[in-house]
Amino acid sequence: MSAAPLIIDMHTHFFPETWPDLAEKFGTPDWPWMKHHGDGTATVMVGDKEFRPIYSACWDVDKRLEEMDQYGIDIQVICSTPVLFATTRPADQAAECAHIFNDAALEMCGRSSGRLLPLAQVPLQDIDTACNVLSQAMKDGHLGVQIGNHVDDKDLDDEGLVTFLQHCAAENAAVLVHPWDMLTGNRMKKYMLPWLVAMAAETQLSILSLILSGAFERIDKSLRICFAHGGGSFAYLLGRVDNAWKERDIVRVDCPNLPSSYVDRFFVDSAVFDHGALDLLIDVMGEERVMFGTDYPFPLGEIKMGELIRTAPKLNEQTKAKLFSQNAESWLATDLREGSAAE
Ligand code: CO
Repeated sequence: MSAAPLIIDMHTHFFPETWPDLAEKFGTPDWPWMKHHGDGTATVMVGDKEFRPIYSACWDVDKRLEEMDQYGIDIQVICSTPVLFATTRPADQAAECAHIFNDAALEMCGRSSGRLLPLAQVPLQDIDTACNVLSQAMKDGHLGVQIGNHVDDKDLDDEGLVTFLQHCAAENAAVLVHPWDMLTGNRMKKYMLPWLVAMAAETQLSILSLILSGAFERIDKSLRICFAHGGGSFAYLLGRVDNAWKERDIVRVDCPNLPSSYVDRFFVDSAVFDHGALDLLIDVMGEERVMFGTDYPFPLGEIKMGELIRTAPKLNEQTKAKLFSQNAESWLATDLREGSAAE
């Protein structure tokens, strides 16, 4: 096996080709379903509304591996999509939903010769059930869990959500926090503005909820948690947050240490689409805390997978190796070279 570092994409999504009719199963409307167009493309529907155009890489393992080979990607961490979390539904329904998509992820990974690795989903509106589903998923072979960045009006510093994060630490589960249920309204109806403005703000909000509430003081340091999309607006605005913490007692009331001192408690992915932004991110987070992630195979992901890091003018090969594989191996707490079929 070559000594070249593995290329691990730790932020990708899947949709199964089909799943049970959830509206019929639960007797309530507006569940996600797939409208296949017969040509390798499909539309994810939510009730009768179009949610997102997708193509066969979402569900077809061979197609996926082919595209990974095309861009020299050895391994992808796959997770479902927050639209499937069902956190506004009854918890038993969300738990059943989680089992369906967690099993689907395992099934896809099982056909990938070790090149796809699964993250689970959990019914986060019910912490006890979420902990049980997470434990079961870890037993079944998941490496961790993808969660939304909040549940209704509860941010990650909510007591129950902190309990869940502690459980993840105890279960040795990697956590990917993905923005969802974005701040929105009449001013963000067009141009995918919720994705372009609100997602970055949501992630900023969830990181700050953990820092400023002092939650990171209570959560075990062994928790391995990553925030998607480069941590949203966090890195760019960290100076503003530190300044506010120094100048206003109401900002530091629950947070004993300078906000920027907590950057060693979490990871971010590299999905920022700009070399200057990536340099800033590495500067703020440290080169041990940024991981290659694309958001593949969605249209807002890095289409030429890996190009941002490969062509980064200021990064040396050692740093690139950390971003491409070593940091993801730390986050997943697994040696992927061992047992991987990728060459
Ligand atoms: Co994503």
